[in-house]
Amino acid sequence: MTPERPDRTPPRAASDDGPTRADGSPEPSDRRDTDLADDPTPAEPTSEAEELFGDALPRVRRFAELLAGPGREQGVIGPRELPRLWDRHLVNSAYVGRVIPADSSVLDIGSGAGLPGVPLALARPDLTVTLLEPMARRVAWLEEVVAALGLDVTVRRGRAEERETRRTCGEFDVVTARAVAPMGRLATWAMPLVRPGGRLAALKGASAHDEVRRDANDLRAAGGGEVEVVRCGAGDTTTHIVVVHRTERRTAAGSGPGAGRRGRGRKDRSS
Ligand SMILES: C[S@@+](CC[C@H](N)C(=O)[O-])C[C@H]1O[C@@H](n2cnc3c(N)ncnc32)[C@H](O)[C@@H]1O
Repeated sequence: MTPERPDRTPPRAASDDGPTRADGSPEPSDRRDTDLADDPTPAEPTSEAEELFGDALPRVRRFAELLAGPGREQGVIGPRELPRLWDRHLVNSAYVGRVIPADSSVLDIGSGAGLPGVPLALARPDLTVTLLEPMARRVAWLEEVVAALGLDVTVRRGRAEERETRRTCGEFDVVTARAVAPMGRLATWAMPLVRPGGRLAALKGASAHDEVRRDANDLRAAGGGEVEVVRCGAGDTTTHIVVVHRTERRTAAGSGPGAGRRGRGRKDRSS
């Protein structure tokens, strides 16, 4: 874990919603985006990607091809994102694995094109990953990707804050999210899906510290205890991960129907 230092790298969603800020709001387009849109070819994996993904690299490359081909056609990823697919999206996503303990059950909220959930599942086969997404078109895409890559990953349709999601999904060791909502709102949605003693890991940009300070009351009210901001990578791949540890004490929000049940589809370690 690297000590904190501010940087200018914004996190981006891969979807066709257009570029987003850390809080999920749209980011004004810039000159560079327009220039890059002229060349939709996915870039080649960087040395950082080779190191992070190791033996999983061929399957991550296949995911990159799916994004650049059918993903682009189906509008789950914008063409301007393709040249920076590896550093801005795939490497950025894999970094979240650094704050996830071995053998954890993981719920990725608002997976969209499959980020960070798919690269994470590829890089960390010890994890039991569930992807949660409310939009039917994106759910269909995620199911396609999971089948094409032969992943042992569950895809669910729903919104994080819905009672039905809590009832059917239960609780997870770790909940991840990238470009879904501002920190306070995200914690309110996600913490009931985190088991007591587990954690929320949110991929954010340079706004991470400001969001944590601004939304401190919401994080506490949602059942958050200790909060860390972990910085990974450098330059274009700089990633800030806000880790909110859930207190062991169960809050009112955590005593609902899904409380106490571990995330479904957990891998059987005995076999
Ligand atoms: C900006 S996109 C980010 C997608 C992906 N995480 C990424 O980084 O490319 C936000 C995603 O969150 C989903 N989303 C929005 N509100 C949600 C909610 N309440 N619960 C779960 N997902 C939600 C949207 O459908 C969309 O796919």
